[in-house]
Amino acid sequence: MRSLPDAVSRRTWLAALAGVAALPRRAGAAATPEITLRFSHVVAEETPKGLAANRFKVLVEQRSGSRIGVQVFPNAQLYGDHDEMQALQLGAVDLVAPSLSKFGRIGLPEFELFDLPFLFDDLAAVRRITLGPLGQKLLQGLPRQGLVGLGFFDNGFKQMSANRPLREPGDFVGLRMRVQASRVIAAQMRALGARPVTLPFSETRRALATGVVDGTENPVSNFWTQAMHEVQSDMSLTNHGYLGYAVVSNQRFWQHLRPDDRTLINQALQEALTFANQIADTQNDHALQALRQAGSTHIHSLTSGQRTRLRQAVQPVQRQLASRIGSDWMRDLQQALRKT
Ligand code: LMR
Repeated sequence: MRSLPDAVSRRTWLAALAGVAALPRRAGAAATPEITLRFSHVVAEETPKGLAANRFKVLVEQRSGSRIGVQVFPNAQLYGDHDEMQALQLGAVDLVAPSLSKFGRIGLPEFELFDLPFLFDDLAAVRRITLGPLGQKLLQGLPRQGLVGLGFFDNGFKQMSANRPLREPGDFVGLRMRVQASRVIAAQMRALGARPVTLPFSETRRALATGVVDGTENPVSNFWTQAMHEVQSDMSLTNHGYLGYAVVSNQRFWQHLRPDDRTLINQALQEALTFANQIADTQNDHALQALRQAGSTHIHSLTSGQRTRLRQAVQPVQRQLASRIGSDWMRDLQQALRKT
């Protein structure tokens, strides 16, 4: 999936190590933006995240009269899951939007609360966390890692896929399931009798094609835009978990921006995130339609009994992972979800 020549990422990386890319780049020529923000992400441009990043670019460039430029690097062109956060911390890129499942590995395991299976009934329940005090508190933890959290947004609910129908807990037994680097998701797969295999997103399709893993989970827009339908014969509409993102920047970079530039950038970003939340559902619906039309993957809807049995099978995960997430976070989470 890395379509830029290695030399490009190498140059950026070397520049970062040399400290020259840590601050906004300023150039003399009028046609060249005074500041260029580099926004790196791992998914396709036609996904909610890809579209939000492109929207952000347009808004920033229009409103700044092109004085501020945005370069978007989709599809892990520059950095994949394993190195994008480190690249941000080093200043090699300025904005990333990893899934919430990918913050545990940088010392923020509380973000994995979003991965608890069957936690949210709908997106309104997600909003009670992301727009409430708990969401603010989560973002406030990011400076511990030299980062600043600028907001949350959705992809949507995840579905399960493999080369056989996955309807009952027994269907998962023995399958190697690709997961993101989240202990909660790994525990969810183990509770179903599967073997979790952590892999970067950009390697997932190939791993499915070559049989390194048997199946995976993701919202349909990610599944479709990576052409996973060519290598997975079955998808079950389980809606068993949520996939969302946090946009993060390098704290040093963010603080060095001029206050009015920071305001412009932040405003454009908040609008792009609102836009992403508005289109996320539709993007997943379109992807599901396209998937049905392609006809290569059987789509299975679950009966309520099947869904209940899956839910029961993964129920122990909440208790097992409560100490990783933290008991205070778990208490606040339950309280926030109880409020109407
Ligand atoms: C994944 O790794 O499965 C997803 O988090 C990719 C993404 O960023 O949507």
